[in-house]
Parts: sequence; C-alpha cells; structure tokens
Amino acid sequence: MKNIVVLVSGGGTNLQALIDAEKRGEIKNGRISCVISSKEGAYALERAEKNGIATRVIPKKGCPDRGEYSQRILDALNEEKADLVILAGFMIILDERVAKAYPNKIMNVHPALIPSFCGPGYYGLHVHEAVLASGVKLTGATVHFANEVCDGGPIILQGAVPVRNDDTPESLQQRVMEECEWKLLPRAASLFCEGKITVENGIARVSE
Ligand code: GAR
Repeated sequence: MKNIVVLVSGGGTNLQALIDAEKRGEIKNGRISCVISSKEGAYALERAEKNGIATRVIPKKGCPDRGEYSQRILDALNEEKADLVILAGFMIILDERVAKAYPNKIMNVHPALIPSFCGPGYYGLHVHEAVLASGVKLTGATVHFANEVCDGGPIILQGAVPVRNDDTPESLQQRVMEECEWKLLPRAASLFCEGKITVENGIARVSE
C-alpha cells in the first residue's frame, strides 16, 4: 500500500475528491496517510481530521525564504515516508530540491489545459480570469508530475470543458473542478499507485 501525502493551502475540494474516492475503493493500492497545509486554519485540514487522516501545518507565513520552506516540506515528506505527493490546491512554488528528491512522484492538479494558462502567477481564480480574457472556447484541467519548471512536468491526464458566453471566473472554476479536477486527480493517484504510469524522455504514458 503506497503512502499518499497531500499538500494543501485552502478549501481542499480536491482533497475531498481524493478522500471520497479512497472510501469508494477507487484508489487501488494507495491510502492518504497525511495532509500537510501551508496555512493554519485551512478548511482542508478539517476535511482530513473528519476522516481520521493525520495532519501537519507548515506555515508559509513564518517562513518567507523559499529555500528554507522547501527544506521544511522535504523533511516532512521524508518523515512521512511519502510514496506519492499530491499538490491539491497547494499555492506555494517549492524550489527544485523537492522535485529532485521525488522525481515523477509529485503530482499537481492545474485548473487549465497546460501548456496554456500556466506558470508563475497562474493559480486559483486568476487562471479562469485569464481564460475568459483570452476568448478561448475550451478550457479544462491537467494533472502532471511536478519538475523544476513551474507547471512544466510530464502531463498525465487532461480533461476539457466548454467556455460559455455567460461564464464568470467563479462559474468556470466550478465547472472545471466538477467535470475535470475532481475526476482526474483520484484517477491519476490510483494509476500511480497501481504502477500504471511510466515516464520516458519527459513524456508520461498511462497503461490501462
Ligand atoms: C483548484 O482549482 C486547483 O486546481 C487550483 O486551486 C484550486 C484549489 O481548490 N490550483 C492551482 O491553481 C495551483 N496552480 P481546492 O483547495 O478546493 O482543491
């Protein structure tokens, strides 16, 4: 059974999707062993506690230096014996030592179709605002492995939804979450734990 450590910063609806999937037996050969939050009081922590999952808080607030913060996260991941790390609404960009210590073992969910609308500054609602400002007609979500480039690692799964004329950033975020993120992330976690994802020359391939 693989240990899945989930990193969060906020509401944790993606964490909830993972918890629900695990309860339904849909994460084969994996269990969420710990949730780590970058913020005290994040609602994601409550979701974990309600489900008997161990939690840790490593506050970004008291640690402005990115290198030092990354080291703290890395120490915690090592202590938790993480087999898979999932960034589920984790709003901090960690430095490269974390990705290097866990190559193709850190998964991120991004609320757009990478390589569009991604990279530094593209997070949360800002992504959907940029999508609407651009006039694209399709958007979606991407689950990818994290490497040293922000939102740049091998793409594992993607899903798309239409952009509607009357969308607001909030309505678009909701559709992307419901129809893409909450489905793709648990599926990707299960595929990983079942050993069904391989990466060669920067390309991830899923065998199902
Ligand atoms: C999600 O839409 C996630 O994809 C996004 O933040 C939201 C977190 O929601 N992540 C990023 O933008 C990271 N670049 P949640 O806390 O309810 O899961």
